[in-house]
Parts: sequence; structure tokens; C-alpha cells
Amino acid sequence: MTLRAVVRGVGHYLPKRVVPNTEFEARIDTTDEWIRTRTGIERRHFAAEDETTSDLATAAASAALADAGMTADQIDAIVLATSTPDFTFPSVATMVQAKLGMTSGFAFDVQAVCAGFIFALANANAMILSGQARRVLVIGAETFSRILDWEDRGTCVLFGDGAGALVLEAEEGSGTTADRGILSSDLHSDGQYRDILYVDGGPSTTGTAGHLRMQGNAVFRHAVEKLASTAHTALEKAGLGSGDVDWIVPHQANLRIIAATAQRMQVPMERVVVTVSDHGNTSAASIPLALSVGKQRGQIKEGDLIVTEAIGGGLAWGSVVLRW
Ligand code: UT7
Repeated sequence: MTLRAVVRGVGHYLPKRVVPNTEFEARIDTTDEWIRTRTGIERRHFAAEDETTSDLATAAASAALADAGMTADQIDAIVLATSTPDFTFPSVATMVQAKLGMTSGFAFDVQAVCAGFIFALANANAMILSGQARRVLVIGAETFSRILDWEDRGTCVLFGDGAGALVLEAEEGSGTTADRGILSSDLHSDGQYRDILYVDGGPSTTGTAGHLRMQGNAVFRHAVEKLASTAHTALEKAGLGSGDVDWIVPHQANLRIIAATAQRMQVPMERVVVTVSDHGNTSAASIPLALSVGKQRGQIKEGDLIVTEAIGGGLAWGSVVLRW
């Protein structure tokens, strides 16, 4: 018998305010046409002034718990991926823990920017396999609207706010690829690429939150090359190949990156969950949002083989293979 971390529930939350591309046309030198054709983005959600990352995360976590038929006191651990925390500390995860009324177990944040949810999932899986926790809430939540430079047309049109969550539970599997749950993961980072995607502030430097800075085309080139490669490696580690994939659930940054990665993996676009048109890039929230919306749409079904992959600031990138 082999222990597996199986998905019991999924949920998401998007702030009410929807911002179409046309809203940017009045403010900066851009067009709906440029944004759509270069990125696939049509609209994104922005949090209300009094709404924080922990609010979004708590709403997504509550939805995932309801989907799993569980209550917060049954959860052993919360692992939350974000780069836009409410405060420098405490962690957003402990704030969510309190908002859910959960007084036992433990909670912490993971910071791997847009790859954060992949790193959080891999950590949660390791904790379940080692017996540290049996039920883990894994959350990706962001308010990137708070760190955008509204004068920089190369970045401010790309990002959105939102949150998604999964409930994982330990279950005995047979040890074969037919098992439900996480089957493999593959993680990477290379800090020498810091300058192509970073935030120009922080507690130990400027004492401010700072603004996002990106050399878009340099990140684009790394994304196209590294995402298919890490997805292939994760599949290989699980003893699987591209032909076994039911759904690619990619990080939602740019439709052209998503399509190029699918093409390199020889998986048709009909087998890719795409939400970037409606959400923009929500960083660590994008994969759990896409998993939740994919299930809601009737795309993802129990037993489906899913490959998730993401890349972001660091650079940090990776992939997780799981059977839903
Ligand atoms: O999630 C974290 C990882 N991030 C990503 O994966 C993002 C990766 N990068 C991208 O998605 C793309 O590189 C962008 C969407 C950011 C940019 O697309 P691109 O095709 O790489 O465009 P570019 O940066 O090479 O810029 C092309 C042109 C430039 O004008 P010139 O120099 O050719 O005259 C830009 O100034 O497009 C211009 N441009 C814009 N024009 C209208 C840049 N932003 C805009 C804009 N509206 N919003």
C-alpha cells in the first residue's frame, strides 16, 4: 500500500469588481485589441478597497471545505501561497486559520510567486506522505492589484485578484498510476534571473511594498522553454507520458504561453483548462482558480489525469501530476 494525497474538495473566490480591457484604454496608451491578441486576457477581477488577500483566501477555503463536506476543525494544516500578504507578518495562512475559527493544527505561507501553488502542493503532499498531517488545506490567494504600477502599460493590464483552494486528504492507494491523488512533482528555481521579474520594494530594503517590474519578453522565452520541460519530467517521474494526460491546468499568464506549452507537450488545446481570458494573471491563485472553474464547467472529472505547471519570479517553476 502507498499513501496518497487525494483531492477531497475544491473552491474559489473572485472579487465582485470586473474590469474589462476597455477600462485601461482611457487611462494608458493601450487597446483592448493589443491586450487580447498579445495575452488572451479580456477582463480581470480587482478586490474592493477593504478586501484583503486573507479575505479572498478565507472565502475560497470555505468553498473548498463545503465541497469536501468537511469543517475547519477537521483540518490539520493550512499551506497558503501568496506574494501579496495582508502584512509582512503574521502569515496570511494563520489569519485564514483564525477567520475559519480553527484553533488547532498549524498554518504557514509559501512564497514562490506565480509558481507558489505548485510549491505549496508539493509541500502539502510531502507532509501527508511523511505523516505530519492527514488533511491539508492548500490555498493560492493574491491581490496583485495592490502592487501594480498603473503607469506601466507593460504590466498593469496583465494581472488580477482572486483565490482558490484544495482540500487534500491522506488515502491508501495501490502504488500504481491508477491511484487518485498526487503522483509526482518537479520543482526548480534559478535566482540569477531575479532582474527579469521582481518587486522594487520590501521591508528590508525600501520599507514599502513596492511595485511589480517585469521584462515580459525575457520571461516569455523562459516560460515557453521551461514549462513543457518540467511537465515532461513530472510525468516521467510518475511513469506516465503526454498521451496519458486528460487535462493540462497551466498557470494562467498568457494564452500564447499556454498554447506553446501544450503544443510542445503534444496535447491539443481541447485538453487545456483556460481561464486567463476572465481572470488575467492571478499569480499563485491562478492554478487553484482554474481547477475549481474547470470542475464547475464539467471539464475536470473524478479519475482524470491532470498536469499543472507554473513559472514566476525567482525564477521559480515546477509541475505537479495528480489524478483527480
Ligand atoms: O506569471 C508570471 C510570469 N509572467 C509571464 O509569464 C509573462 C510573460 N510575458 C508575456 O506574457 C508577454 O511578454 C507580454 C504580454 C508581457 C508582452 O508581450 P510581447 O509580445 O512580449 O510584447 P513586448 O514586451 O515585446 O512588447 C511589444 C510592443 C512594445 O512596443 P515596441 O517597442 O515594439 O514599439 C511595447 O511597448 O508592445 C508594446 N506594449 C504595449 N502596447 C499596447 C507593451 N504593453 C503594451 C500595452 N498596450 N499594454
